[in-house]
Amino acid sequence: MTRNINAYISLGKDRLDKQLKAIFSKRDIPSNLHASMTYSLFAGGKRLRPILMFASYDTFAKQSNKVLKAAVALEMIHTYSLIHDDLPAMDNDDYRRGVLTNHRKFDEATAILAGDALLTYSFEIIAGDDLLSTDEKVFLLHALTKASGAEGMVAGQILDTEGEQQELTLADLEKIHELKTGELISFAITAGAYLANIDEERIQYLNQYAYYLGLIFQVQDDILDVIGDPEKLGKPVGSDLENDKSTYPNLLGLEGAKEQKQKYEQLAIRALEKADAMDSYLLDLLHYFSQRDH
Ligand code: IPE
Ligand code: IPE
Ligand code: MG
Ligand code: MG
Ligand code: MG
Repeated sequence: MTRNINAYISLGKDRLDKQLKAIFSKRDIPSNLHASMTYSLFAGGKRLRPILMFASYDTFAKQSNKVLKAAVALEMIHTYSLIHDDLPAMDNDDYRRGVLTNHRKFDEATAILAGDALLTYSFEIIAGDDLLSTDEKVFLLHALTKASGAEGMVAGQILDTEGEQQELTLADLEKIHELKTGELISFAITAGAYLANIDEERIQYLNQYAYYLGLIFQVQDDILDVIGDPEKLGKPVGSDLENDKSTYPNLLGLEGAKEQKQKYEQLAIRALEKADAMDSYLLDLLHYFSQRDH
């Protein structure tokens, strides 16, 4: 198979954006709330989690629209998490995806409510997906709520907040990164593989791959917060330092963080081999996540 990862990413982004646009064109949402939700949704996110879900599905099954709504739901939850992450009570950032953060463009109350609405709407989308069986919906809703809630992303966010001004160990940091970022990334992989109907053993190996991919993604996010170009990133650099966050570069130094990322890459590749999925976009996305500059 010859693969062109850039073309694959661009196609996946278009697919996702079209579906999102269709969903938001016919909704009876108060206009300011609608404006605030769509402002962040269409501000130019990379859509990497949906693309990962497409890649996981496409590796094991023939392309279909079966994963499309679940991918939209995941992107909505991710966007909500960013809107809330940027709030003054959290990371207090002014720019996101190249434009003013939601609370700076609108106001705090609207940003909080837009986040709430994106979160709950994501579940409605999966529950109302005609292409899924009842069993599939229950599986996805269970996995997505777990990944995004008090034992998943939200858990990571509170540990991240509590970790400010603390000396954390590498194990503490891995736990925070796994939860705040890794859980939604793992959901993308698991959901795609589950809908493609693959066996339990391979799903286990893919979960291992997803675990390391989540860490790689957040290590690179931490590295970019130090050496990234804010123009390319669409968000400020130096935010972690300002908030006295525990990050990989903080704990291990910049070179140490890069070395740690390479270790995770080796482990992710080993898991992908065991899942018999090396000849796939999942391998390309691993490199893309690790090398990205935005
Ligand atoms: C940023 O995620 C938040 C983290 C979990 C590190 P992305 O880098 O995927 O952000 P967008 O969606 O492209 O804006
Ligand atoms: C945010 O992590 C993770 C979630 C939103 C769950 P960061 O705070 O590092 O993300 P950025 O750097 O603001 O995108
Ligand atoms: Mg944060
Ligand atoms: Mg932040
Ligand atoms: Mg960051």
